[in-house]
Amino acid sequence: MAETTEGAAQAQEIAEEEVSEAQIAVHWREEEYYQPPEKFPAQANASDPAILERFSEEHFPECFVEYAEMLEWDKKWDTILDTSNAPFWKWWIGGRLNACVNCVDRHLEARGEKNALIWVPEPEDAEIQEITYAELHRRVNEFAALLRDFVGAKVGDRVTFHLPMVPELPVSMLACARMGVIHSEVFGGFSGTACGQRMGDAESKILVTVDAYYRNGELIDHKIKADDAIEAARKDGIEVEKVLVWRRIPGEYHSQSEMVEGRDFFIDELLEQYRGQEVEPESMPAEAPLFLMYTSGTTGRPKGCQHSTGGYLSYVTGTSKYYQDIHPDDTYWCFADIGWITGHSYIVYGPLSLGTTSVMYEGVPTYPDAGRPWRIAEKLGVNIFHTAPTTIRMLRKLGPNEPEKYNYHFKTMTTVGEPIEPDVWRWYHEFVGKGQAAITDTWWQTENGGFLGSTLPGLQPMKPGSCGPGVLGIYPVIFDENGDEIPGGSGKAGNMCIRNPWPGIFQTIWGQPERFVETYYAKYNNNPDSQDWRDWPYFSGDGAVQAADGYFRILGRVDDVINVAGHRLGTKEIESAAIEVEEVAEAAAVPVVDEVRGKIVEVYVALKPGHEPSKEIEQKVSAQINKDIGPIARPKNVWIVADMPKTRSGKIMRRVIAAVSNFADVGDVTTLANPEIVDGIRQHVQSEKLSKGEVPKELTEKEKAEIASYGQAE
Ligand code: WTA
Repeated sequence: MAETTEGAAQAQEIAEEEVSEAQIAVHWREEEYYQPPEKFPAQANASDPAILERFSEEHFPECFVEYAEMLEWDKKWDTILDTSNAPFWKWWIGGRLNACVNCVDRHLEARGEKNALIWVPEPEDAEIQEITYAELHRRVNEFAALLRDFVGAKVGDRVTFHLPMVPELPVSMLACARMGVIHSEVFGGFSGTACGQRMGDAESKILVTVDAYYRNGELIDHKIKADDAIEAARKDGIEVEKVLVWRRIPGEYHSQSEMVEGRDFFIDELLEQYRGQEVEPESMPAEAPLFLMYTSGTTGRPKGCQHSTGGYLSYVTGTSKYYQDIHPDDTYWCFADIGWITGHSYIVYGPLSLGTTSVMYEGVPTYPDAGRPWRIAEKLGVNIFHTAPTTIRMLRKLGPNEPEKYNYHFKTMTTVGEPIEPDVWRWYHEFVGKGQAAITDTWWQTENGGFLGSTLPGLQPMKPGSCGPGVLGIYPVIFDENGDEIPGGSGKAGNMCIRNPWPGIFQTIWGQPERFVETYYAKYNNNPDSQDWRDWPYFSGDGAVQAADGYFRILGRVDDVINVAGHRLGTKEIESAAIEVEEVAEAAAVPVVDEVRGKIVEVYVALKPGHEPSKEIEQKVSAQINKDIGPIARPKNVWIVADMPKTRSGKIMRRVIAAVSNFADVGDVTTLANPEIVDGIRQHVQSEKLSKGEVPKELTEKEKAEIASYGQAE
């Protein structure tokens, strides 16, 4: 589709209409289609259009049997989908399987000597580790034996990992999966306190960590965070019993944190007793939880998304096969962190289930320079590449012409985690993909297990900035606030929802089933007693607009979650950290558009009476956020204001300060209880920003719309 003036005319028309908040008119122009390279479809896993028919709504839920059959089952299921306790969906009821067997054991015979994982350490002269399926099997079994005999871990226990990108992370995950133990990995970049709070929430008494890891050329002390984690868990009533410490360099210890006798143990030392041991895999019911993955919500308490064994594994296997076009002989590199859902689904479980080679990289994309990823791709013969827009933007900024210096060839490339600007998409396509790769822009969430919106690379053309239609077996819809459908091609945005359940959907929020129903299903349900899935659309919390061709363009969160470099941070989490600072009375976190990271955080605070603004307080707020959450949430600026703009009912109007921070229009402030303060805040903040040398970023229509509706959910 060529650029049209039609889009502009349509936008104009909409702007003139009365538009409700949930129907923000979207003014961007249509992008043109890109076709995959000619030779792509012939080798693709999904190249026959009949697949679209097989997964059409008439064939739901049987269509997903195709995914389940990609797995090895100890016992086949009796029922595909059980909706009797809606919206707590159950898939593959009566079936039994083991996720570790599916990702490791079943490949031993045909592919035991083939690499399962290739781990690339950050220091470029350090040795790359190639871990065959046979070797992975050995490592997983030995660690499982340790968990069983030394720790006493049993089916259903929760074990928390606070691990960065080291090969011991997938080993630990698969060892738990083998035993039916639920793993809960907390992103290594998160603070010890955040980790401990998640341990408290999951009532997890075992922590697996590492002494140190390389990041940006430095060996960073990581075990030190375990001390904070233990303290935070204790506050929540959980006494951590054992801290198991992998060593980044076996035999050496690179942490200031002391090993506590009787509680902390070096795994490499303990493993000596378990050499060569094997652990019989547990045959797990399909609906047994496989892992928890914590994500942020609109209240301070994080949400432990509980993912199932059979449903989740079938979904990530099927989507890896069709959407990333993974074949066993590919060398696949997902450049994400396993500490996020992307890494769980698309570094570990999906690719290994398909028996391919999955590459892991320890460090930052631009270490020692912006050519590093392309050297890795060249050296290892990577042919499928997967990363996030934030990484793409950074690599484009620091090394726009680096890719052409290296001789690699990608057949498919994926992007995930944030909306990608068409301009950035085109660089990815032309420079990184050398114009020869099919790109899938995959939209989904921690809660979803796997992709929800994407093009099928061999069958559907790409369109920059749009994820595409719903993936196979997913039937999305955009609703307005009243539950009326906003049709494709209307140029209006609304709430992105999915009409049907799917195997990868999370089962519940750990320990908070009411919140699960309330957050994701209550909004568009009219009959809480219904057992019919058609009555329970899934509310994603993202705003989106659908074009006439059925492709969706995702706008970002409609609730107050800030997406920094593809990482979701709850506004409330950041604000509650800021409020821990003694002098602070009130805090509000807002997103600021950032060229590289998409969004970054700025925090506004009002002080308790009797305190004067000072640099010291600003620094305390920043440090507290860093301590409670981690550097990813560290605010760009902390602004101390006399008062916050508030509604008459006393709610902070985040959209007003968000507009100030972004040099955007503050819009109508006449309904505020204190409109007179807005000008003062604007002058103070913007003049200081300008004097610090900040150049106001020109905002796209989409960004303006997002800021104007920011924080409206509360
Ligand atoms: C955003 C990451 C636009 C979205 C897998 C979603 C995207 C949130 C895309 C989930 C995409 C993810 N285009 N936006 N392709 N993918 N998002 O839970 O706002 O870390 O709700 O899961 O990221 O982030 P999460």
